[in-house]
Amino acid sequence: MRLTVIGTGYLGAVHAVCMADIGHDVLGVDVDAEKIKALAEGRAPFYEPGFDDLLTRALASGRLRFTTNLRDAAAHGEVHFLCVGTPQRKDGGAADLHHVDAVVDGLAPHLTARCLVVGKSTVPVGTTSRLTDRIAGLVPTGVRAEVAWNPEFLREGFAIEDTLRPDRLVVGVTSPNADATLRSLYAPILAAGVPYISTDPNTAELVKVAANSFLATKISFINAMAEVCDAAGADVVTLAEAIGHDTRIGRRFLRAGLGFGGGCLPKDIRAFAARAHELGVGPAVAFLLQVDEINQRQRTRTVALARRMVGGTLTGRRVAVLGATFKPNSDDVRDSPALAVASSLHQEGADVRVHDPVGAKNARLAHPQLHCGSDLLAACQGADIVLHLTEWDQYGEVDPAELARVVDEPLLIDARNALPHDEWRAAGWTVRALGRPT
Ligand code: UGA
Repeated sequence: MRLTVIGTGYLGAVHAVCMADIGHDVLGVDVDAEKIKALAEGRAPFYEPGFDDLLTRALASGRLRFTTNLRDAAAHGEVHFLCVGTPQRKDGGAADLHHVDAVVDGLAPHLTARCLVVGKSTVPVGTTSRLTDRIAGLVPTGVRAEVAWNPEFLREGFAIEDTLRPDRLVVGVTSPNADATLRSLYAPILAAGVPYISTDPNTAELVKVAANSFLATKISFINAMAEVCDAAGADVVTLAEAIGHDTRIGRRFLRAGLGFGGGCLPKDIRAFAARAHELGVGPAVAFLLQVDEINQRQRTRTVALARRMVGGTLTGRRVAVLGATFKPNSDDVRDSPALAVASSLHQEGADVRVHDPVGAKNARLAHPQLHCGSDLLAACQGADIVLHLTEWDQYGEVDPAELARVVDEPLLIDARNALPHDEWRAAGWTVRALGRPT
């Protein structure tokens, strides 16, 4: 099938290479000429395990090309995927849909034949219906473009696997024709027995925000328990393991610590709360504001713990921060809890040295005031305290005895509850973590 993927950011670029990989003829489209040039030359604009190989293979197959021209896109696609960003509006929590609207406005007047426009971005419920009217007013007479929604559930770091072998595919359609087109487009993926849920567009749009809200709530729930554990002298890691053995609860997404960040969960729960308010059902999801607050509090609690451990003031203290990205296996620093903590420490007068194996460059761009690098021992040299804020595997392999010789004081906060505390203590470190007894 001839597909266009409009918006070649993280979501779109991964979708485009995966669709080419399963045999479609794909045209990737973006307004950013530099990004398009890089992709066309086989250079990945972000770090994602497995992406580079797939991009090279797709380009070599001749089934993947790139352009900045929406007119070419209109001529090429039987199905147009919308993969542009839906960031948080500057004036509140609601989603900013101007990229989505701009793509539709640029594409629709050039359409010449019947086609399907399929949104993949995370949007407020009601967007498909709104775009249907918008497109109908823009297409040339006689042309029919149907809109459907097909939310994406991929995780950064596992994006290829999640796209080619997803837990489920969800499509929100308004006609059997659109459903048949999407079933056939995804046939190579569905052949492995992947559940396919075909529903109306409102439900499909809500599935995505409900899923992310549930995941965020699970994380904030366990972090709320960590606060109670701190007050009661109990251990949140054992608590999480014990409740997680109940399969109704499950063990995943119950890792207590610094909380969630990234380009999705924080903005999605805020946008959902804002949309529910517009629909007159704000109180039904008011708990999401608490989920957000609990999440933010883990950042201030971590800074407060660091302040206490170094004797009451951070001014003039040398602090080593391990990890800058919002999670491991990604170079994404958007709303990174680690960098939020590093910034607060810096604001309190600490001399902060941030280490990250792949995210140092993005961290420097986002926070030019911070020292960020990729030499671990250099970051820890002379430190009064070390904060483990993003759980890259390589931090688990550090020799605590070797690191103890480099720092000034062997004080560690493991804000991700991911390091072997007994080994660190045996090497002379004082180890503290949120929700763990001292
Ligand atoms: C998230 C969802 O997991 C995807 O299903 C969804 O498609 C995506 O958002 C999106 O909307 O596009 P992602 O942002 O890649 O994916 O990251 P997650 O793996 O969900 O992690 C989010 C944050 O939660 C990270 O900062 C991570 O450190 C934190 N986290 C995760 C915890 O603090 N504790 C946990 O137990 C799990």
